[in-house]
Amino acid sequence: MSHDKIATLHIVAANKFNTNIMIKNTLAIASDHGGFELKQILAQYLREQGAEVTDLGTHSLESVDYPDYAAEMGKWIESNADKKGIIICGSGIGVSIAANRNPRVRAALCHDGLSANLARRHNDANVLCLGARLIGIETAKDCVNQFLSSEFEGGRHKTRVEKLS
Ligand code: RB5
Repeated sequence: MSHDKIATLHIVAANKFNTNIMIKNTLAIASDHGGFELKQILAQYLREQGAEVTDLGTHSLESVDYPDYAAEMGKWIESNADKKGIIICGSGIGVSIAANRNPRVRAALCHDGLSANLARRHNDANVLCLGARLIGIETAKDCVNQFLSSEFEGGRHKTRVEKLS
């Protein structure tokens, strides 16, 4: 196993068992109806840890169209360039496709803490996409913790990320 992979596993293991990760971030959260309940849970979880959370909707279980909320997230990222967002739909797929249509957004659909960790370290992702119907609450919290506590590594990854724009 490569040193890089071992280091990744150590970081993920350390964070996984740290239940006191303080998330002093300012961030936005959004969802469609499929992600509404998980959005509410994660927003409360983040606020309890000291995060300032802007809720871009939706605000009920009434059926809505995920591209509208992904577009709102894109606008928020445009005016909060150094900040991060979390967006949720049933599978996470719709919001990830839609969010990435904004050139300022690097949205990553993650299903576990390691993918969220790598989305930050290697891809400098600024929007985390989650599928509320595919992952449980604890896994979603792992994804959020990793996404908000991991830093972009730059170097060779910077060259690659710059080619995305
Ligand atoms: C809504 O039913 C569902 O299609 C949506 O939340 C999402 O999973 C689309 O990708």
